[in-house]
Amino acid sequence: MIEKNRVAAPGSPDRALLDALDLARLPRHVAVIMDGNGRWAKQRHLPRVEGHRAGAAAVRDTVETAARLGLDALTLYAFSTENWKRPQAEVSTLFTLLKEYLRREFRTLAENDIRFRVMGRTDGLDATVRSALDLALEATASCHGMVFSVALNYSGRAEIADAARRLAREAAEGRLDPESIDEEAVARRLYTADLPDPDLLIRTSGEMRISNFLLWQIAYAEIHVTPVLWPDFRCRHFLEALVDYQRRERRYGGVSASDAPAPGAPPAPAALEA
Ligand code: FPP
Repeated sequence: MIEKNRVAAPGSPDRALLDALDLARLPRHVAVIMDGNGRWAKQRHLPRVEGHRAGAAAVRDTVETAARLGLDALTLYAFSTENWKRPQAEVSTLFTLLKEYLRREFRTLAENDIRFRVMGRTDGLDATVRSALDLALEATASCHGMVFSVALNYSGRAEIADAARRLAREAAEGRLDPESIDEEAVARRLYTADLPDPDLLIRTSGEMRISNFLLWQIAYAEIHVTPVLWPDFRCRHFLEALVDYQRRERRYGGVSASDAPAPGAPPAPAALEA
C-alpha cells in the first residue's frame, strides 16, 4: 500500500500529478537515460562538471521518488563504454561524483530496503570505484525492496555479445543444446536476468535516441522524452512521465482491445489476417 503523503505533500503541485496516477498500474521497472548535464552547465556559464554535480542531486531525488512509489526496479544510465572519449578531467569528475554519492548514500539505501546493483563491465573500472561500488553492494545485499541499478561502463550491444559468448561456450562444453536456445535463454544471461524488462524508458533533454541502452530489454518499453535537462529533473517530472505512461495503450504487437473481435464473432476473412 503506497502512502501518498510520503511521495508528495497534500496540496503541492506534485500531489495533483500523484492523484492523477493509478497506483495499481505503475510500471514495474523504469529505466532512465540521464542527459543534458553539459547543456545545463553551459546555460549557466559553468564548467560541464558542475552540470554533473547538479545531476547527482537529481539522482538522489529520483531514487527516493521511485522507492516511495514502490517500483520494483529503477535503472539509471550513468556511464557508457563510449563515454571514455570525453576529456579525462570530466571522466575523472564523473567517477568522483559517483564515489561520493555511494559513500554518502549507501546507508540510506540500506535503511530504505533498496538493493543496489551495477550493470556493465565493472572489471574495466578503477579499483577505488570498484571498492565504493562494493561498499554499496554489500550494505544492501540483503535488501528486498526496489532494485536500484546503475549502468556503468555499459553498452547494450556488448551485453548481448557477452550473453552470446556465454551461450556459445556452454554449447561448446556440451552443457547446452544449441536447439534449446530461445529468447528466455538469452535473457537469462543478461545483466537484468532476474529483473522484469523496463516498462518505461525516460530520456531527459529532448534527444530522441536510445544510445545503446538496454537494447534487448526495451523491446516493448514505452518511451517518454522530456525537454527537462537532467539536473532539473525532480519528483514532478517523474510523475509526469508516469502519467504519460498510463495514457498509453500497450499492445505488444497485438490490437487495441476495442478493435479485437467480440467473443463469439465470426472469424476475419483469411485475406485480412496477415
Ligand atoms: C549526460 O549528460 C550525463 C552523463 C553522461 C552522466 C550522468 C552522471 C551523473 C548524473 C553523475 C552522478 C551519477 C550517479 C549515479 C550518482 P551530458 O554530459 O551528455 O550532457 P550534454 O548532452 O548536455 O552535454
